[in-house]
This record gives sequence, structure tokens and C-alpha cells, in this order.
Amino acid sequence: MSGVLLNKKIVLGVTGSIAAYKAADLVRRLQDAGAEVRVVMTQSACEFITPLTMQTLSGSPVAIDLLDTVQESTMGHITLARWAGWVLIAPASANTIANLAYGQTDDLLSALCLATESPVAIAPAMNNKMWQNQVTQSNLAQLSARGIYIIGPDSGDQACGEQGEGRLLEPNDIVDELSRIAVPARLQGKHVVVTAGPTFEPIDPVRFMGNRSSGKMGFAIAKAAAEAGAKVTLISGPVALMTPPSVTRVDVETAEQMHDASMRHTSDSNIFIACAAVSDYRPETYQDSKLKKTQSSQLQLKLTINKDIVAAVAAKKNRPFVVGFAAETDNVEQYAKDKLIAKKLDMIAANKVGDGLGFGVDDNALSVFWQAGSKLLPKAPKSHLARDLMTIIIEQYYAKNTTEST
Ligand code: PMT
Repeated sequence: MSGVLLNKKIVLGVTGSIAAYKAADLVRRLQDAGAEVRVVMTQSACEFITPLTMQTLSGSPVAIDLLDTVQESTMGHITLARWAGWVLIAPASANTIANLAYGQTDDLLSALCLATESPVAIAPAMNNKMWQNQVTQSNLAQLSARGIYIIGPDSGDQACGEQGEGRLLEPNDIVDELSRIAVPARLQGKHVVVTAGPTFEPIDPVRFMGNRSSGKMGFAIAKAAAEAGAKVTLISGPVALMTPPSVTRVDVETAEQMHDASMRHTSDSNIFIACAAVSDYRPETYQDSKLKKTQSSQLQLKLTINKDIVAAVAAKKNRPFVVGFAAETDNVEQYAKDKLIAKKLDMIAANKVGDGLGFGVDDNALSVFWQAGSKLLPKAPKSHLARDLMTIIIEQYYAKNTTEST
């Protein structure tokens, strides 16, 4: 990702947190990456690190007060909001996060965030109980839904003596993450359709056949595609997840509904990513009323096969670039390659399920295969894997569609 931040104008917001001292190093790391940095501090940030330190390191005056006549006549909050190519708040305290969520403008940094049309990223830092608090999480969800990027936090020892999530990421990691987010939108003008989650196949009004897919992998892929600038349609089975920002969600329940939605939404799509765990079979008949327990010790359920969605999209005349998934418990590579060929896919991402990976959990590991190559994406949070997978998909999409420009 080197070079992404070259000549980028970054307003670095520093808020009141014991981690504010790391902001000094962050200025240097951003400058090393080629960025021009202006610093805005909240009053409480000044209790932890002096404006003079930040001014000396950034080489520019530090803005603090919203109502400072001198600053407002030079680099006021509106001017700064226009100047910024990016606003990065690190550390972002629980208070500033709440201010941003509610559109409060009682300090210069919050006012600037409301006024800017540029992307905003925040790197939270706080005590782990404050981080886990429902109020903080709901504020973050609101910010994320509005397209504000959340970088971190890390977990480990905290200044308060506790352990847990809420530590500011190290400056180098913040710069890496920002570089990753700020990559030019290579899928601008492209339509990506993603399937995610399980399908539920009804047996009777209260029972269904389903599986343990949480939708986390597919939702992370939809988010990564949107971050790459694509118009994204996310066809989701029943899951308990928030829709990622700028993503259009289509809710379905059964494999048949997912099939119909996929066929409809891929009519003008460039890339189709089938991450859903689709039920291969469904009960042959749906019982209108609840199945009653009988005296018999056995009950037989007759199943009938569902249509293969990803194969059906790949068989379309004007097919998009088609990426399938393979969830395997053994012999991952061979089964995945067989599916790549049998379903006529452009690419397949295989995951070995079990042992804390795959279904339901936050981490995964992927082996990605396409006709002329392969790549291993080692164990990582699904959000990271999704971005790395998107990078491979974008490369192979443009390798196949050589007439299109990135
Ligand atoms: O949702 P999470 O909890 O985050 O878990 C993620 C995941 C493990 C579900 C995901 O990474 C994954 O592996 N998804 C595919 C699971 C699956 O059904 O694999 P499969 O090997 O049975 O199917 C192969 C491919 O065919 C998949 O792309 C699947 O979407 C597709 N398929 C399968 C059956 C069917 N009727 N239609 C299909 O399109």
C-alpha cells in the first residue's frame, strides 16, 4: 500500500486520552508516508500532550478553539474542513465518538467533522468497559453506518491497569490501516453482488433446516467491495448483522429466494461473490400445520435438491466474474479445485471449517484458487481477509477484462 498517502492532506484530530502521546509519533509516521499533516486538538487533549509538541512535529499551528478569533481568521474550522483530504482522529475518546454520533459541534474538531465532505476515520482509545458499553457500541455503529471508518482498537494491557479491548493501535498500524482504506476506488462504476449467510428451508410453520453461517464473512466482503467504490448488492439469508455502509441489502430466507434474487440482481453486475452457505436440499413438502409427535420412534423427512445458485449465475450468457466459496472439513484444495471446474467459476475461496475457523466465528483463513494461480490468506479477522480477497478479485477481474481500465 506504499504511496497511497503521498501528498495527502490529513487533519489529525487528537482527543483527551492517555494514548494522546502516541499522536506525536503518528504525525511522524504519516509524514514518513508522504502526507501533509495539520493537527486539531480538543481542550482535554491538551491536558495529555502539549500543542507545542504537536506544532513542532507537524510544522504548522495547532488548532484548538472553535471561537478563537485569530485561528478562525486564518485556518478556521471551515477552511480546515475544506483543506482536509482525510480527517483522522487518533486517539478518539468515547466523548468525541458520542459527539460525532450526535452531531454535536461544541468543539472545533467535532464542528470540523460535521463540515467536511472528506472521508473521516477514527482510531478509538478508551478503557475496555467504556469500549464494550452498549452506548459506545451503538454510537460506533451509527458512525460506521454513516461511512466513518473505524480503525482498531487493539486489545491488551491498559493504562488503567485493566486488560481488554480499547487500546489505541500503534501508529504504524494506524498508518497501514489508513493506507489500506484510502486506496483509490478501483471498482468505481462496477456492480458487485454478494450472497451471505445461511438459507432456512421451512419444514412446517415453526421448523426449518438451516446451518451455522452468521453472514460475517459475506458482510465483510460486501463492505470491502463498497470501500473499493463498487455499487454493492448484498443478498442475505437470515442473520443478525448491520448492513455495511453504502450497501443495498436484499433479505431472503430460502435457497429458492436467494436463487431468484441472485439471477435478478446479476443481470447488470460485473462481479458475483457467492459466500452464502446455501442449503443443498430442502424438504420436499412443506407442512401447513405443525408436525405432531407420533408414537413412532422415527420420522423420515424427504428432501429434494435445490438449484445451484453460483453455477446458475456462471451459466448466464453475459455472466459476471464469478467467485465461489468452498467450505470443507478435509481435502480442502482438491474439493475446492473440483468445484472451481464443475461450477465453471473464475475463482474459488476455500475455507477449512472447524477449529475456530469458518462458520460463526470472527476469524477465518482462505485458500484462493483461480485457473492460473492461487494464494493463501492466513488466519485473520474476516474484515481483513475480505479486503485481501477483494484485492485478489480486483486483480483477476481486470486481468480477465483487459479492455476495461482500473
Ligand atoms: O457466514 P460466516 O459465519 O461468516 O461463515 C462463512 C462461511 C464459512 C459460510 C463462508 O466462508 C463459506 O465458506 N461459504 C460457502 C459455504 C458453502 O456452502 O460452501 P459449499 O462448498 O457447500 O458450496 C460451494 C459454493 O456453491 C458456495 O459458493 C455456495 O455459495 C455455492 N452454492 C452451494 C449450494 C447451492 N445450492 N447454491 C450455491 O450457490
